[in-house]
Amino acid sequence: MLPETLQWRDDALVLLDQRVLPGDVRYLVCRDVETVAVAIETLAVRGAPAIGIAAAYGMVLAARVGGRNALASAEERLARTRPTAVNLFWALERMLAKSRSVGDATLAEGLLDEAVRIHEEDVAMNRAMGANGATLLPQRCAVLTHCNAGALATGGYGTALGVVRAAIRMGKDVRVYADETRPVLQGARLTAWELREEAIPVTLICDGMAGALMASGRVDAVIVGADRIAANGDVANKIGTYGVAVLARHHGIPFYVAAPTSTFDPSLPHGAAIPIEERNGEEVRSFGGVRTAPEGIPVWNPAFDVTPGALITAIISEESVTFPPYRFGAAEKDVGKL
Ligand code: MRU
Repeated sequence: MLPETLQWRDDALVLLDQRVLPGDVRYLVCRDVETVAVAIETLAVRGAPAIGIAAAYGMVLAARVGGRNALASAEERLARTRPTAVNLFWALERMLAKSRSVGDATLAEGLLDEAVRIHEEDVAMNRAMGANGATLLPQRCAVLTHCNAGALATGGYGTALGVVRAAIRMGKDVRVYADETRPVLQGARLTAWELREEAIPVTLICDGMAGALMASGRVDAVIVGADRIAANGDVANKIGTYGVAVLARHHGIPFYVAAPTSTFDPSLPHGAAIPIEERNGEEVRSFGGVRTAPEGIPVWNPAFDVTPGALITAIISEESVTFPPYRFGAAEKDVGKL
């Protein structure tokens, strides 16, 4: 059975430390907002929905330690951790709104209720999204995925991998190919591990093998998650996603994005407006403490890229399956706030 990605236990946020998977199953106990912020920055917790949930619990910790006066600086610190996943800002906004609606005596308790609600809603959205997306897959198929958009990246169940789980539960015969996902290897370390834990058939490939795999006729569909979806359907997701989408179009393979409404950002007209995080070049120059490139060699290391909506066959949310041309409005975002 998969361990929980995030838990609220004994007045602390307990995170499954994804930096050390798959070698070690270890937990990181966060008792203050700074520990949560560093956990997000260093990828102990990662994946757009999971980052949002962690930040929500971070606000609870801030209120418990410093009361109402601590909330503004906690929000500012958490908002500075990672810029691309809009779920982070969406969750912080919900927590601030909640803080304005409760009195000082019940502040920490009210915020904990809201964080738990964000967490539980995420799992429910993933299950509904899975059911919506599973209908798109053939009875017997192989799905290619990029990065990790599974239980580890969310409150549980997953987005792209939630679709796979739901299809299998429906009785479909689904096998997964996982891109290793350079440079941080979320595909190799996390997706391969998560699926293996549940005995879902998975085959690992290097990122550069995706074209050959598609040309060989082995892939029936691609499903990925998202970090932010602009009003026109452009999707920011893990670096390398764009290349996979271009390859899928070339080979006539459907390319699906699965994301909850908390990942939609209709305030941005198109993907060029999405802030893309650039990470330390050491992630590319070395891995696990082993140097894999000349010391100090210049590196460009964007953590995400933008796939144009025109390359996306359908966008699956808990609400619906939407086909191009995409025109998302404020309503998509509001659903997650109910
Ligand atoms: O840098 P990461 O590991 O946080 O990037 C994660 C992704 O790009 C996921 O595909 C995305 O957040 C969707 S997770 C359901």
